[in-house]
Amino acid sequence: KRKVILDVDTGSDDAVAIMTALLSPELEVLGICTVNGNRCIEMTTENTLRVVEYLGSDVPVFKGCHLPLVSSLTPGRRPHMPFTGQEDPEENVHSDYLDYLPAATIQPQRQNAVSWLVDTLMASDGDITLIPVGPLTNIAAAIRIQPEIVEKIGEIVIMGGAYEYGNITPAAEFNIWIDPEAAKIVLDCGAKITLVPLDATHRACISLGECDQLDAMNTRASKATSEFARYRIKGYRVFQPMEQDDWGPIHDALAVAAVIDPTVLKDVRQLYVDVDFSGGFADGMTICDVNTRDKKARKNCAVALNADREKFVSLVMRAMERSPK
Ligand code: BDR
Ligand code: CA
Repeated sequence: KRKVILDVDTGSDDAVAIMTALLSPELEVLGICTVNGNRCIEMTTENTLRVVEYLGSDVPVFKGCHLPLVSSLTPGRRPHMPFTGQEDPEENVHSDYLDYLPAATIQPQRQNAVSWLVDTLMASDGDITLIPVGPLTNIAAAIRIQPEIVEKIGEIVIMGGAYEYGNITPAAEFNIWIDPEAAKIVLDCGAKITLVPLDATHRACISLGECDQLDAMNTRASKATSEFARYRIKGYRVFQPMEQDDWGPIHDALAVAAVIDPTVLKDVRQLYVDVDFSGGFADGMTICDVNTRDKKARKNCAVALNADREKFVSLVMRAMERSPK
């Protein structure tokens, strides 16, 4: 079994990623850390707890950073920055697309996600894989608090970044854009890193026909996955049309799938990847040096530029089949 820690900003694709991880016998999920991103930290934590409770899992959930490291401090730099850290938790616990799941009655752990990450990695044998599928704030903060953890990280498999084009701006992918300084710290930390950017996740879509199959499977997780995937397919049609209008990406689940079976990723290249955080048009962009223009730079990650859609979908389906009814 591969020991993993998920780091999530739970919206609908994180939810499918969590369920895939919890329902895959190849993985031992040690804990789930939450971070500000898709929603404010109160909501990403509530949503994460909902998913965990829905599956009857006892995996511990740790609440992490409520704001990006730096970018939220620069006035005007991020007009669309979704959260300020001042959200009223009472008003914000109502999830939008995770309303399918009942409100959580379980609580996060008392310890903060960042200090738990540091303690857990330091006490480990260097065999833990981190799977961050939200902004990289918690991981970067942990590295800054205790740099020795880098030696203890088995691998980091990140959903984030884009080689071809972004989704929050023309240049930037959301997770990296929210906290580009954190992304830079993590990409340059020296650990073994696999990057699963939009180039791969956009090729690992789930279709409406596959949602019908998930419905027919009739397990708790298959029904929730179908619900979230349908929601996403509908949204993508309007917001960012995919190759086919009856399918949509479930980004974060591809990073989890890649830890279970690395062959779900295709066209994986060892590259130097840098992050722009200069505040301009390319703010939050991941610059992938595919032609090795920078001869001196260390090739800091393996970047997946494509994915095997069929393999990915069947891996997710198999996980959902193991769920309780
Ligand atoms: C990423 O941004 C978040 O909205 C998703 O959950 C995913 O992790 C895609 O750009
Ligand atoms: Ca996410």
